Amino acid sequence: MALSFEDETLAKGGAHKQTRPRRDKLVIYAIVSSLLILSLALGLGLGLGLRHQGTHSPSKPSPSRPPIPSAVWQPNVGETWQIVLNEVLNIDDNDPVVEPNVDVFDIDLFLHQNTTVVSNLQKLGKKVICYFSAGSYEPDRPDSYSFSDSDLGKELDGWPGERWLNISSPSVRDIMAARIEIASQMGCDAIDPDNVDGYQNDNGLDLTSDDSVEFMNFLVDTASQYKIAVGLKNAGDIIPDLLPRVQFAVNEQCAQFDNCGTTRPFIKTKKPVFHIEYPRGAPSNVTEAESKDACTSAGATDFSTAIKAKNLSGWVEYCDGSTATTNVFS
Ligand SMILES: *[C@@H]1O[C@H](CO)[C@@H](O)[C@H](O)[C@H]1NC(C)=O
Ligand SMILES: *[C@@H]1O[C@H](CO)[C@@H](O)[C@H](O)[C@H]1NC(C)=O
Ligand SMILES: *[C@@H]1O[C@H](CO)[C@@H](O)[C@H](O)[C@H]1NC(C)=O
Ligand SMILES: *[C@@H]1O[C@H](CO)[C@@H](O)[C@H](O)[C@H]1NC(C)=O
Repeated sequence: MALSFEDETLAKGGAHKQTRPRRDKLVIYAIVSSLLILSLALGLGLGLGLRHQGTHSPSKPSPSRPPIPSAVWQPNVGETWQIVLNEVLNIDDNDPVVEPNVDVFDIDLFLHQNTTVVSNLQKLGKKVICYFSAGSYEPDRPDSYSFSDSDLGKELDGWPGERWLNISSPSVRDIMAARIEIASQMGCDAIDPDNVDGYQNDNGLDLTSDDSVEFMNFLVDTASQYKIAVGLKNAGDIIPDLLPRVQFAVNEQCAQFDNCGTTRPFIKTKKPVFHIEYPRGAPSNVTEAESKDACTSAGATDFSTAIKAKNLSGWVEYCDGSTATTNVFS
């Protein structure tokens, strides 16, 4: 998640996903086209198109992976949460208090790297998820200099300067492993690796959904070594592959785009879905209709829903109508 925001741009994830044609439609097009004597060449074109859309069938048996250590935190369905990504939480070391009084905080890894925020939240009985972008290059992170130009793809739509990464590249993986090591040093209970759905986007690197599955497995294996939990962010197509290995989902905008059912398998396997909606009225002026949309979408029963402003500032509203603003440094 970049620090800047173009107001009319939908937040990442859901926005990208929505522009993708569904696979079954494409298959029907492919059949119809071949019936229409359109040549083999067109058939090939569609075939390639299909692959580039990154649609995915988890038919291949995945290679066996190391088991998840039992010490890894497994949050429960329905746990409450807050997510603040573009600001630094301000918690007094001598008298730690925080609002809202939820179970879980998702905060930016780098903004809190050299602070006592993680341990203060834990003293308050909270679990802490540390966010970083795993699948994109952001120009302003402390380790941004370590990326090679050859590993950078196209810019993310609506996020100037931020670029898709070749998630199969060993040097990108080394950088992400170093980020997970930082998370471990900070005592984070979990990580929230963002932008693992490059395959759904015009990424300039020919990323496939299989690349994302492999990359997520790499992140899980690495985090496991530090007994850190991992969430799958958006990336609906690869949920079946990753569900046994991640401890929770983080979903953006499934209510807005009417596809919360895609993430429902998490609930069925007793893993929470930390769910964010960004209605126009947020912050402060969320209408009843907007809140109803965010909270009662089909498939979203038992999701842990937070209504947020698109810049993921300290303000939050919940489905019971309560609101809070987490204290941050201004
Ligand atoms: C935190 O401290 C380390 C060690 O001094 C430094 O290398 C790193 O850049 C700092 N991180 C941030 C985000 O300031
Ligand atoms: C991405 O990295 C992999 C592994 O190094 C490499 O085989 C592949 O060619 C790279 N892709 C691009 C588009 O550079
Ligand atoms: C809040 O939203 C309502 C309905 O969309 C609108 O009429 C009103 O002007 C908004 N108020 C503010 C302060 O933005
Ligand atoms: C976040 O966005 C809201 C609404 O656009 C704005 O009022 C608020 O100042 C922003 N906060 C930060 C920290 O950028």
